[in-house]
Amino acid sequence: MTRNLNLAVLISGRGSNLQALIDACAQDDFPARIAVVVSNRPGVEGLERAQRGGILTETLDHKSYPSREAFEEALHETLGKYPVDLICLAGFMRILTAGFVEKWPDRIVNIHPSLLPDYKGLDTHARAIADGRSEAGCTVHLVRPAVDDGPILVQRRVPILPGDTPGSLAVRVLEQEHIAYPQAIRLLAEK
Ligand code: GRF
Repeated sequence: MTRNLNLAVLISGRGSNLQALIDACAQDDFPARIAVVVSNRPGVEGLERAQRGGILTETLDHKSYPSREAFEEALHETLGKYPVDLICLAGFMRILTAGFVEKWPDRIVNIHPSLLPDYKGLDTHARAIADGRSEAGCTVHLVRPAVDDGPILVQRRVPILPGDTPGSLAVRVLEQEHIAYPQAIRLLAEK
């Protein structure tokens, strides 16, 4: 059975994964729609992408809250204004506490630019190249309280080529991210 999922997409910047989700949701047979885009940074490109797509946006600047918990309380309250089935972290650069993650059990997904469990955290491409790996990729996973941890939904692989820089590898992986995220949403909707 396929459900139609209402998504909240959380961003902090460029929003190219958000764009991939906007484009997927524009297809008639895609089992999701974006109810709201939330950014923790004002004025970012991803907010413009959402507005161009006619999607409601909210900006919650984390710097204007006294603590991580206060920010998350505001985030939870904001999300409560929309019919959200699934929270999609798409380049959202804030770590979520266990308290927040536990309020949305199995309802938060993240995209990470490595083949998890390898290379959790930042600078994934530089570390994979420095280790002489022959393969890199991306992972969409359900979010658990530990950072970049949780059941894997979709992984897509790319080769690491001689002469690759973190930048050239990031471009190759990002192309796959844009395929992986809609695939993972479809998987969850059809579950
Ligand atoms: C992506 O590489 C994503 O995997 C990582 O942050 C980057 C965000 O890019 N979590 P964008 O904002 O979606 O363009």
